Amino acid sequence: MATERTLSIIKPDATRRNLTGKINAKFEDAGLRIVAQKRIKLSAEQAGKFYEVHKDRPFYGELVEFMASEPVVVQVLEGENAIAKNREVMGATNPANADEGTIRKEFALSMGENSVHGSDAPETAKEEIAFFFSGLELVG
Ligand code: RTP
Ligand code: MG
Repeated sequence: MATERTLSIIKPDATRRNLTGKINAKFEDAGLRIVAQKRIKLSAEQAGKFYEVHKDRPFYGELVEFMASEPVVVQVLEGENAIAKNREVMGATNPANADEGTIRKEFALSMGENSVHGSDAPETAKEEIAFFFSGLELVG
């Protein structure tokens, strides 16, 4: 198994409810290391660019508005199979379908306000990490 890095975002519904520490504990308990982290406020332009892959989907406007509504915590998680492991810890996109013990099952409010984002493949992880972090910020 390979050590990987993945991009995680703690979304506005979670930062608003002061859940950053509880969510980070879920990652660490699953063996993921938070090797970079910062709290930022995205502009609508930045959020739109980050989620550009979804620009033709009906929920795009709502998603961009939500992601730019309040601060987010962007982070790089590292570990064995970090991309898949993170998505396992996150749970299904719709919290109604998320497994017991997952972040979305415990904390998500709805399909849109679902507390966390995680990269879905090695190539997107690389691009998404570079979107938010410079090499100097990735100390391991
Ligand atoms: P993410 O990209 O945020 O990690 O979530 P995901 O892979 O589980 O889901 P994805 O299909 O990539 O959708 C991205 C985000 O868009 C919002 N969404 N809303 N209202 C809706 O039908 C709907 N569908 C998706 C969610 O915030 C989802 O995480
Ligand atoms: Mg996705």
